[in-house]
Amino acid sequence: MNTNAAIFEDIVQSRRSVRLYDSNAPFDADAVDRSLDRALLAPNSSNLQLWEFYRVKTPAKVKELAVYCLAQNAATTANELLVVVTRKDKWKAHAAFILEESMKTFPPTIGKREKMMMDYYKKIIPTLYFSDPFGITSIFKKILFSGIGLFKPVPRQVTATDMRVVVHKSAALAAQTFMLSMKAEGYDTCPMEGFDSVRVKKFLNLPFAAEICMIVSVGTATKNGIYGERLRLPKQEVVFEV
Ligand SMILES: Cc1cc2nc3c(=O)[nH]c(=O)nc-3n(C[C@H](O)[C@H](O)[C@H](O)COP(=O)(O)O)c2cc1C
Repeated sequence: MNTNAAIFEDIVQSRRSVRLYDSNAPFDADAVDRSLDRALLAPNSSNLQLWEFYRVKTPAKVKELAVYCLAQNAATTANELLVVVTRKDKWKAHAAFILEESMKTFPPTIGKREKMMMDYYKKIIPTLYFSDPFGITSIFKKILFSGIGLFKPVPRQVTATDMRVVVHKSAALAAQTFMLSMKAEGYDTCPMEGFDSVRVKKFLNLPFAAEICMIVSVGTATKNGIYGERLRLPKQEVVFEV
């Protein structure tokens, strides 16, 4: 194992979901900032970055949000709470941004790769992300892609619900990058889906289309902060060689 792998092994092995934090332990808030910078580098679908991160720092705000996290210890005792939000509704603006920025790096004569990229953001992304409030587009796309799929491989995840999964996947990768980074910085975290999303959205003043992917609490574990030994299914039950 090389040195980087050994360091990464240590970070992964020592990261645990912590439910009780030590409020008296020193806390370097800049570690959260650095970890957010790293989280923003997480791989994400079509590089659309349909995510937002709300850092809740002040004790009064943490206290209020912790109530909406169902008053879990993992939230009430945390130094900070990070709300990871998906913004599927921003696909058009982000696609335009990515395309515009990428085009600045294009060579004077547009080649096949550049043309493919323009088609991707101008045609494929709208096909995947456009939806209507009644779900008619989703039904139409499902039928269309299933039909084409009889003859050749096609993407099957094309409905509005499928695209919700897509954005949550990317946001979760960012959340994991954040948690591993916090561990590397010497701090602990707990990802949470136990929260009242309606109240959390209201608290953050988020629009209807925004969704909460998860809330990550941050701090330093107390001695009893980890509830039990780490438990995983046997590897042979979940890992298969094909
Ligand atoms: C999406 C997600 C949601 C979770 N929600 C909660 C939660 O609301 N409260 C909690 O105490 N732990 C929560 N957890 C933590 C899991 O219980 C924990 O990751 C799992 O038991 C494995 O333990 P480990 O993280 O220490 O390895 C959540 C984890 C994930 C990934």
